[in-house]
Amino acid sequence: MDAIQIYGGNRLKGQVRIQGSKNAVLPILAATLLINGTCKLENCPDISDVHHMLRLMESLCCVIEKKGHCLFINAKEVSGCDMPPDSVCVMRSSIMLLGALLARTGCVRMQYPGGCVIGRRPIDLHLSGLRKMGVRIEEREDGFFAETGNRKLCGIHHRFPFVSVGATENLVLAAALADGVTVLENAAKEPEITALCDFLVRAGADIEGIGTGRLVIRGVERLHEVTYRVPADRIVAGTYVAAALSCGGEICLTEAPCRQMDAVLCAASCMGAEICEEEDRLWIACRGKRRMLPVLRTDIYPGFPTDLQSAFLTAMSLAGEDSVTGVIEETIFEDRFRIVPELRKMGAKITCRDCRVFVTGVRYLEGTVLKAEELRGGAALVLAGAAAKGETIVYGRHYIERGYEDICQDLSALGVRCRKTD
Ligand code: UD1
Repeated sequence: MDAIQIYGGNRLKGQVRIQGSKNAVLPILAATLLINGTCKLENCPDISDVHHMLRLMESLCCVIEKKGHCLFINAKEVSGCDMPPDSVCVMRSSIMLLGALLARTGCVRMQYPGGCVIGRRPIDLHLSGLRKMGVRIEEREDGFFAETGNRKLCGIHHRFPFVSVGATENLVLAAALADGVTVLENAAKEPEITALCDFLVRAGADIEGIGTGRLVIRGVERLHEVTYRVPADRIVAGTYVAAALSCGGEICLTEAPCRQMDAVLCAASCMGAEICEEEDRLWIACRGKRRMLPVLRTDIYPGFPTDLQSAFLTAMSLAGEDSVTGVIEETIFEDRFRIVPELRKMGAKITCRDCRVFVTGVRYLEGTVLKAEELRGGAALVLAGAAAKGETIVYGRHYIERGYEDICQDLSALGVRCRKTD
């Protein structure tokens, strides 16, 4: 049935360890293609996006061994240009392989990548940056062919017209082994970019400005084998913060990347959560009534992450009847309010206008049958089910499994009665 069944209404109590980060590990996996040897990645999340990425890499002759959450990736024999269309279509991050593969093999043929249905997701910034580095790209209706003509990619001075996480990652990957210096202005500053740069620097890359919007990458001759621990997933941690806000109760998240979560914790605290941070432990207590957030605006890092907008929409929906109306403004993706009709079925009072939603809090939601259409929205529906009265079934579990190792196990550890149904 590909669903999650939830009996909602429990207050949360318990502890969960936060898994490794999906958005960090995917570009790091691409980076291992640049290395003529075996890399060891620890704390890799066991999620379907990673499984798809590994399948793609194996099709390019990488040899991959998995021991629990540890991956050994041997990219010595990397060859081939063709990416299997079925894997590319289901996962947008397959575009991440483009810069690295061009640097390694000089040609790539791929379909336009897929991924979550959250509005238009073009790749023009990726392609225009790579063209500037000397790549010839032939675009067709369904995909493109890119080649370097047996020349090394060349360093460039490039200013992104607007911030893109993926395009920044792709150009960093392409620049690490390029001829000369690449300067990237208006680069994304997300912690996942920092993780990618840290990985590359440990492997011998020369990158300055890590964590800022101006990255200077001096191309090196080669990179060497490295062992790297994937950082914890700030979006998964934020999802469980929203779970505590939605259901009430007290939870502890271990190995949480607290320092990357300022905007999220600030929003949670404005909604009435008590928060205590201790190194990598995060305690959240939601004892009294939740307060409505008057305005929540998604933004590039360090602003509030678009990937947690849906989870906070669920929490805000439950802010109580006497509260003011809250507004959520989505500034990153154009079609990211797809869960609104589903939440309305449960009794939520939400109206949509362009890239904003207006939320009037209700005291409770009613359990019902729901359909997930994408990863983060799907997780937010599970939270709604955990907070609602009675039984909720969320179909489309495979979307959620793209990014959460086992959301049922985690929420069960926090006291939610839920299970996968097959
Ligand atoms: C990454 C994250 C995703 C997160 C997003 C924003 C991964 C695997 N995914 O996605 O979870 O929600 O950052 O934090 O890390 N754009 C263009 N042309 C391009 C590239 C992007 O117009 O060539 C637009 C997009 O449509 C979007 C905006 O730029 O409106 C930001 O997208 P981007 O930062 O590139 O997101 P992703 O890398 O796809």
